[in-house]
Amino acid sequence: MSARPSISEGTLAEPSKDRANPAVVVKALNLWYGSFQALHDVNLQVPQGKITSLIGPSGCGKSTLLRACNRIIQRLDYVRIQGSIEVFGTDVFAPANEVVQVRKQVGMVFQRPNPLPLSIRDNILFGLRLHDPNVRKAARAELDQVVQSSLQKVLLWDEVKDRLDAPARVLSLEAQQKLCIARLLPVKPRLLLMDEPCSALDPKATAAVEELIWELRGEYTILIVTHNMAQARRASEECVFMLLGKVIEHSATDEMFVTPRSQKTADYIEGRYG
Ligand SMILES: Nc1ncnc2c1ncn2[C@@H]1O[C@H](COP(=O)(O)OP(=O)(O)OP(=O)(O)O)[C@@H](O)[C@H]1O
Ligand SMILES: [Mg+2]
Repeated sequence: MSARPSISEGTLAEPSKDRANPAVVVKALNLWYGSFQALHDVNLQVPQGKITSLIGPSGCGKSTLLRACNRIIQRLDYVRIQGSIEVFGTDVFAPANEVVQVRKQVGMVFQRPNPLPLSIRDNILFGLRLHDPNVRKAARAELDQVVQSSLQKVLLWDEVKDRLDAPARVLSLEAQQKLCIARLLPVKPRLLLMDEPCSALDPKATAAVEELIWELRGEYTILIVTHNMAQARRASEECVFMLLGKVIEHSATDEMFVTPRSQKTADYIEGRYG
């Protein structure tokens, strides 16, 4: 194995080169579920317009960190948080009135596709109806255009254009997950959080959804949790390795997989644990 510079604990959260306006800034974040501390002094800057993947063994806090970024973690009354997260300059833990603003900017995709029990069309328009009071007055043609362009963006239009009124849940898992991404787009989020979005999909569907995520880069900032090393390597530009609630290393993906700076990262990538 190649020699790596020795490092002290928790020092490898390195900013990437382009740090002018990070999409997400996490500072000194500690999080407890009851008396159990799940995140320890997490500091992280997620660059705009790139795909950043979060990797690490099961239970290391990836989903917890992702859920803190749009505040859904605070639905649990036994969660206690110290530190701060800013998303495009807005403090995520600020009083409730600002949270709507944060949520509009942040969309989330979960492990299992979770379309609403509505038609394909109404799934796409749901977020818009929730966030934009003027939608009720919008012309049908205008809304049709929103539906079409959102579905085109996720490469689903041709497959569903003749059955927009069918229930979303009759679609294949791959199409449902694409729909779950498409329904975020009308609200024009800037940050997409994805928690293992391909874990319920077969290899062919995984490849299709990954391809789509890659296409969305640039226009959106994407923070994606994955257990799939090949996916992290293929689909992301920066990579964050977590272990036991701490960020161990944050590097350009190419560097992390070729010359990880931490022995712990190397052990994980090489499959020695988790
Ligand atoms: N709602 C909860 N209540 C109590 N403890 C929780 C809760 N959610 C997660 N935990 C604990 O917090 C730690 C981090 O969990 P988290 O789900 O963030 O890990 P993860 O890295 O996403 O794991 P996985 O790869 O299995 O999805 C784990 O020890 C887990 O048991
Ligand atoms: Mg998880």
